[in-house]
Amino acid sequence: MLTFEENIKSTAMPLGMLDTSSFDETTSHSTKLANNASQVAGYDDAADMPVAVVKNAEPVAKPSTGRIRVEDKRIINCNADVNQLVPFKYKWAWEKYLAACANHWMPQEVNMTADIALWKSDKLSDDERHLVKRNLGFFTTADSLAANNIVLGTYRHISNPECRQYLLRQAFEEAIHTHAYQYIVESLGLDEGEIFNMYHEVPSIRAKDEFLLPFIDVLTNPEFKTGTPETDRQLLRSLIVFACIMEGLFFYVGFVQILALGRQNKMTGAAEQYQYILRDESMHLNFGVDVINQIKMENPHLWTAEFREEIRGLLQKGVELEYAYAEDTLPRGVLGLNASMFKEYLRFIANRRCQQIGVDVLYQGATNPFPWMAEMIDLKKEKNFFETRVTEYQTGGALSWD
Ligand SMILES: [Fe+2]
Ligand SMILES: [Fe+2]
Repeated sequence: MLTFEENIKSTAMPLGMLDTSSFDETTSHSTKLANNASQVAGYDDAADMPVAVVKNAEPVAKPSTGRIRVEDKRIINCNADVNQLVPFKYKWAWEKYLAACANHWMPQEVNMTADIALWKSDKLSDDERHLVKRNLGFFTTADSLAANNIVLGTYRHISNPECRQYLLRQAFEEAIHTHAYQYIVESLGLDEGEIFNMYHEVPSIRAKDEFLLPFIDVLTNPEFKTGTPETDRQLLRSLIVFACIMEGLFFYVGFVQILALGRQNKMTGAAEQYQYILRDESMHLNFGVDVINQIKMENPHLWTAEFREEIRGLLQKGVELEYAYAEDTLPRGVLGLNASMFKEYLRFIANRRCQQIGVDVLYQGATNPFPWMAEMIDLKKEKNFFETRVTEYQTGGALSWD
């Protein structure tokens, strides 16, 4: 097995972490179906239904010499030409692509003046400063990891052009997120060496990344190909880890913390950026869930009881790692937050992830100690919660603030 450093080098991945998830029920097309992989009755559009169930990974749709038919399209192991976008089969993927483009934003649109003044003042406690730095220490490299996972891994194995179209948009959004974190670090004049190296110098951050890397390495390995039950399950496992644990759990402590600061009128520029990132990540999660559930429906033989139990174990491990990170960022509790609230929160969202992909929940009765997060996730383009953004999005250049 490769060491942590070798692992990173081998995939040329600047380590970084990923994003999060949401409780937004509206954008995940498939969550309602997650408890029954073979159920299609809930689909409201016949074009979304899998037309064939392939058992034992037999060859799927033969290479077509004629025009592409919607029934030849499949999420994985498809031989239909991926260069032809239409006719659409998975309309939810195209709709998410359009919605993501409509939510476009750029970091330098956000006014950081108040954050800079606050950071230079004596109005932030040492614990609050510790929290901000640990937070950025995780995220600065997390989204690079996410982008590399998409571009060098996932994209190759998803054999459907409308899903690939969304993945291209998602990859660009991960670049914007990395840009946003860098922009915050630069604006505040933080020690870049300290922040950008936390992923291998701070054990609670490193542990999260070490957990993720083997699942990313599967997909980025040039030798890896789907097409057998074993490799298809490897892909599905990595997709679940990426969407439900990386984007769906590992981002949420960090999001809550910075947004909680913003709610107290502190670091409002950073909080606004995190709000846009949270909205993007919520869609990434929901897209990932839709892809996972579609693969399950088209390949029900992959979704065995044993595999489902394995997935529950991974989610449980994810909760433990993220809770250790919460304790590390909040050694004494600040902002009315303490680590035990995050334990409950992580159990609550882990249950949501279980429900979204159709495995038994892990923590009976867990409740949400941060109900205000739902409001943050539901951000509309026109709405600026922290009111730091002076102008609507403009193309062609950065905005000025005077
Ligand atoms: Fe991201
Ligand atoms: Fe993401």
